Amino acid sequence: MAKSSAARKQGEKLSAPAKITVTLHVNGVAKKLTLAPWTTLLDALRIHLGLTGTKKGCDHGQCGACTVLVEGRRINSCLTLAVMKDGAHITTIEGMAKDGGLHALQQAFIDHDAFQCGYCTPGQICSAVGLIGEGRAHSAQDVRELMSGNICRCGAYPNIVAAIEQVMSGRPAPGAKARA
Ligand code: FES
Ligand code: FES
Repeated sequence: MAKSSAARKQGEKLSAPAKITVTLHVNGVAKKLTLAPWTTLLDALRIHLGLTGTKKGCDHGQCGACTVLVEGRRINSCLTLAVMKDGAHITTIEGMAKDGGLHALQQAFIDHDAFQCGYCTPGQICSAVGLIGEGRAHSAQDVRELMSGNICRCGAYPNIVAAIEQVMSGRPAPGAKARA
């Protein structure tokens, strides 16, 4: 007699899907990883590559703490599977400073005191780099609107907006003279 579908299901052993090998170009360095297909880009960066600058806040696309740049565009890495980005160029907060100098936005965040606990800051800075690259923000209101996916629980928003506006405008930072 044929087995019922329930009995068949009970007897079947489900095997885990095979791991997949991908190459991610992270901050200019090619990294080959063999990952379970459900690994998020965020976990690939933090757990598999040890790049813990990118933060996990909500893990649900709600807070922006996990923002990184993929091919120059800002994305929530918690909502992206690593295997979808095979071959892509990814920039994290660890890749912002160049030749021993901070990225202009990193310096502006310091100059404007644009963080308190700092947990949201890597995502804010990556998102702001993406925002400036998009060229759609022309005012503080635009910055607030287009950065609304990046939540700051400490409420450092006025200073974050001031830091981004200063870099967008090309004006020197308030502390630039003192540092020179
Ligand atoms: S951790 Fe990705 S949006 Fe919150
Ligand atoms: S500085 Fe604490 S969450 Fe933004």
